[in-house]
Amino acid sequence: MPTFGSQDIPDLSGQVIIVTGGNAGLGYETIRQLSHHNPETIYLAARSQSKAEKAIADLNESNTKFTNIRFLELDIASFESIKTAAANFLHQEFRLDILVNNAGIMMTREGLTKDGYEIQFGTNVLGPALLTQLLLPTLRNTAKLNNQARMVMLSSAAHARAPKTVYDFDELRTTAPNRHTTERYTASKLANIHYAKALAERETGVKIIPVHPGMVSTNLHHASTGTFLKPFLHAAIYLAATPVEKGALSQIFAAVSPEAKHGQYYGPIGKAETGSGLAQSRDLQEKLFKWVQGEISGHVESIL
Ligand SMILES: NC(=O)c1ccc[n+]([C@@H]2O[C@H](COP(=O)([O-])OP(=O)(O)OC[C@H]3O[C@@H](n4cnc5c(N)ncnc54)[C@H](OP(=O)(O)O)[C@@H]3O)[C@@H](O)[C@H]2O)c1
Repeated sequence: MPTFGSQDIPDLSGQVIIVTGGNAGLGYETIRQLSHHNPETIYLAARSQSKAEKAIADLNESNTKFTNIRFLELDIASFESIKTAAANFLHQEFRLDILVNNAGIMMTREGLTKDGYEIQFGTNVLGPALLTQLLLPTLRNTAKLNNQARMVMLSSAAHARAPKTVYDFDELRTTAPNRHTTERYTASKLANIHYAKALAERETGVKIIPVHPGMVSTNLHHASTGTFLKPFLHAAIYLAATPVEKGALSQIFAAVSPEAKHGQYYGPIGKAETGSGLAQSRDLQEKLFKWVQGEISGHVESIL
């Protein structure tokens, strides 16, 4: 199969799209490229209004033909904010064709989300799961009009470095002080694959697609605090990282290509991958999915 490129992005007429973390990096670039293919509306979801407004102004300047990019206020590390964002979106739209769960953090300092979860797991896993569940009924209704409606979940090749002792669920309600920040990140990215694959097994209407972009030159690496890895990462990014214009094509493939298969995990660009041994463990997949669903279920019911 020839490599997917920006010329392969299909016409998106009538489609409504949400990209989380759309103000920077891969999210911004995803919106920039999709905006050239006639979507109805793109929601740029971000926690900072000023960063979002600056990004939207830049996007409008770079593509004067498409200006329907709207700010959706969303702190993916807060269940309250996610519920408000979903309600605000549903107040404005009856359809959602593409949800790209892109927002994420990597190797940050020890911390907790507003709801008391380990900060990387709460931001990268529980938040996107709750947003997805709140928007799934709308994605399902849209799938009746557009059989390519889908949810894309950003993982990372670094999931393969998750520790064998991954998923101590009591620990995920602490800052996990005994884990290195790299372990906390890689565990969250393994969980992105498990959550998406488990959801895909249960979902028949909406395509569910986990993807990793390889190593791409964005702010992510600069924001990380992995003390052991930081000098190595900076050198590696300088030497080897993919420019963001190309790096974003992996998630764009997952978001729009009719070739992208439901439940398949993809690497760059559109290459089907199995993921690590742990990623293929159904036992871990099911444990993770059931725990996440249990943690978020009360919040899903409260806005339905
Ligand atoms: N770059 C890579 O090499 C690479 C490799 C593997 C996987 N990924 C994945 O790709 C995704 C995007 O990363 P990136 O490289 O584009 O990183 P980035 O440049 O740091 O962008 C991350 C985006 O997520 C947003 N974000 C972080 N925490 C948030 C929160 N609590 N609420 C709302 N938005 C939040 C950031 O907003 P602020 O500007 O407000 O912080 C920013 O818009 C991540 O899920 C990452 O794990 C990236």
